[in-house]
Amino acid sequence: MAFPSETVYGLGADATNPTAVVRIFEAKERPHFDPLIVHLADAGWLERCVSSVPAEASRLAGRFWPGPLTLVLPKRERIPDIVTAGLRNVAVRVPSHPVAHAMIEQADVPVAAPSANRFGHISPTTAEAVRQELGDRIDLILDGGPTAHGVESTIVAFGPDGPRILRPGPITREELCDSLGREVGIASRSGHAPEAPGQLDRHYAPRTPLRLVKRAEEFVAPRGKKVGLLAFRGTTPDTRFTAIEVLSPRGDLRHAATNLFGAMRRLDAAGLDLIVAEPVPAAGIGLAIMDRLRRAATARDRVRIGREKAQKLRR
Ligand code: TXA
Ligand code: MG
Repeated sequence: MAFPSETVYGLGADATNPTAVVRIFEAKERPHFDPLIVHLADAGWLERCVSSVPAEASRLAGRFWPGPLTLVLPKRERIPDIVTAGLRNVAVRVPSHPVAHAMIEQADVPVAAPSANRFGHISPTTAEAVRQELGDRIDLILDGGPTAHGVESTIVAFGPDGPRILRPGPITREELCDSLGREVGIASRSGHAPEAPGQLDRHYAPRTPLRLVKRAEEFVAPRGKKVGLLAFRGTTPDTRFTAIEVLSPRGDLRHAATNLFGAMRRLDAAGLDLIVAEPVPAAGIGLAIMDRLRRAATARDRVRIGREKAQKLRR
């Protein structure tokens, strides 16, 4: 079933039941090399899924759970390979949304759940968006209203060189550094083999081509094309654009994050030839917004390259 979390809506199944988990991949048309996040009712459930917890992971869990932080830790055998795409580590988090919490507690099993959208498409932040993405393919959608953060959880992995951010999200790099009293690096994606098979370049993407520009003022619209603008803060009316979405008129990054995927969805439905997106300041949750915008803008053929890389990694 689909359920609300504080980040985006998830599509959940019993993480210990491979047959149930397969149905998630089918509904999303998600390739099997892309691992799922396992959701727990509380940190006490960690021992059901992971074999060890480094001290720094424990510290982050204590500070940020329940909440939008995912930790990548060594998996127990009980978690089937299909959940982790054959990796030795499993990604786990404890959501703070009361509906997600109640559902997991009643199910009394760890719940594997990716975002409740078709693979590679925009993550849903409302029950209606889930219905549009997967409505004909899933049994139930729990409606908890619009989600609070609007972008997916921050993912942190722990390697020999210390903790690294695999995906920026609502828990910011600044907060992580502050909590651990040291630098926390961001794992680079482009140009390198992905750290995890799931880190595909193109993700969170509307069907309409999206171009990230430096400044909307300098954008020259191609003749006869319908272009939409995804602006960070208020703009003056502009005849070059058929549709304009403003993420946060007051220029607040947290506010912008909550509007990001809804705005992308509306522009995608507006019959445009192109969506032009403005950058946001790359600090705090702005890093997560820029990460999603860059991936949405990545050319379609990068998907193929991403898949090839992932297959090579598995071999
Ligand atoms: O906020 C969220 O994290 C949402 C809600 C529903 O919890 N979930 C979500 O799941 O965004 P999904 O599947 O859309 O993104 C999960 C990503 C994968 O694509 C992969 O990059 C990473 O998490 N991941 C999962 N398991 C991993 C693992 N074992 N090692 C490294 N990365 C992993
Ligand atoms: Mg997703």
